[in-house]
Amino acid sequence: MNATSNARPRGKIMLVGLGPGRHDYLTARARAAIAEADTVIGYVTYIRLVEDLLEGKEVVKKAMTEELDRAIEAYERAKAGKKVALISSGDAGVYGMAGPTFEVLFQAGWTPPGDDGEGIEVEIVPGASAINTCAALVGAPLTHDFCAISLSDLLTPWPTIARRLDAAAYADFVVALYNPKSGRRTRQIEEAQRIFQRHRAPETPVAVVKSAFRTKQRIEFTTLDRLADADIGMLTTVLIGNSNTFVKHGLMITPRGYANKYDVQANGEARDGEKAGRSLSSGLDGWLAEIRASGKTAAELAALHRLPEDYLAAVLAEPFEPEAVYSSEENASA
Ligand SMILES: C[S@@+](CC[C@H](N)C(=O)[O-])C[C@H]1O[C@@H](n2cnc3c(N)ncnc32)[C@H](O)[C@@H]1O
Repeated sequence: MNATSNARPRGKIMLVGLGPGRHDYLTARARAAIAEADTVIGYVTYIRLVEDLLEGKEVVKKAMTEELDRAIEAYERAKAGKKVALISSGDAGVYGMAGPTFEVLFQAGWTPPGDDGEGIEVEIVPGASAINTCAALVGAPLTHDFCAISLSDLLTPWPTIARRLDAAAYADFVVALYNPKSGRRTRQIEEAQRIFQRHRAPETPVAVVKSAFRTKQRIEFTTLDRLADADIGMLTTVLIGNSNTFVKHGLMITPRGYANKYDVQANGEARDGEKAGRSLSSGLDGWLAEIRASGKTAAELAALHRLPEDYLAAVLAEPFEPEAVYSSEENASA
């Protein structure tokens, strides 16, 4: 995407993530991309966040619902040889402008520039998404598997959203709920709570972060059974912990899993049957050996481990060769 041309000026679209909105969290590349742009296009609130960086530029402000319009405007100007910064809060690729922009480009027959340097260049400039910035404000809630689900049903059918909520709750992911509530969409958060309560304990920790890193920032710790009573709005991200997440001294923490292997009370020594740098005794190999030795049927194991019976039947039917060599580096990186 970076080939150069000595013919007419080549247009460029930069999909710029602003992070949470405060300048000290704007990346150097995001700032440079805005400086490089002839035109800056964005939702009015995002334009306001970077107003002081826009002197001398054409500025196109759009309403929140006009995402495709923003992308079309960017394409038209880039076709005319302009450099356009399309700005999003957080990251442009997380419920942001990156997807709609590529949809518009592909529909118009755009292809990535070739070696001849012809064609519109597209650059995606990453920014810290709300899931990261809200997590940073409440502690370390994402230190184990997590996912994001948007409760906005403006473009997604509710059964799709409900199915994803149910699957994530069942699978014990930490979940970040984006777009949890608006003036008109008030019931979705109650339904999300209802679905989560089918799988998680009522006292599961929940953090409700409003306007992270903005002037009206507000953080509320609550629990799953009281979630729907929290002060939730358009600019709120809701973080629901997994079954191990806890809150201590005002910090929401999801353990990484070290306690499964090491005895923290006993100088951090490995527990009986566990070894540093090796999979847990209940890791894949240990578990495969255990289910074989158990003599249980696929149906019994399926119920025990909450896994599909046909998966367990297939695993039991295969020859078992435990891994002989383990990498001591496997768990070393943080
Ligand atoms: C359309 S999505 C845009 C997400 C954005 N692209 C990102 O990466 O953070 C809007 C949702 O992001 C979340 N959000 C964005 N900025 C936020 C902030 N400063 N504080 C809390 N949540 C925020 C809220 O859930 C809001 O409803």
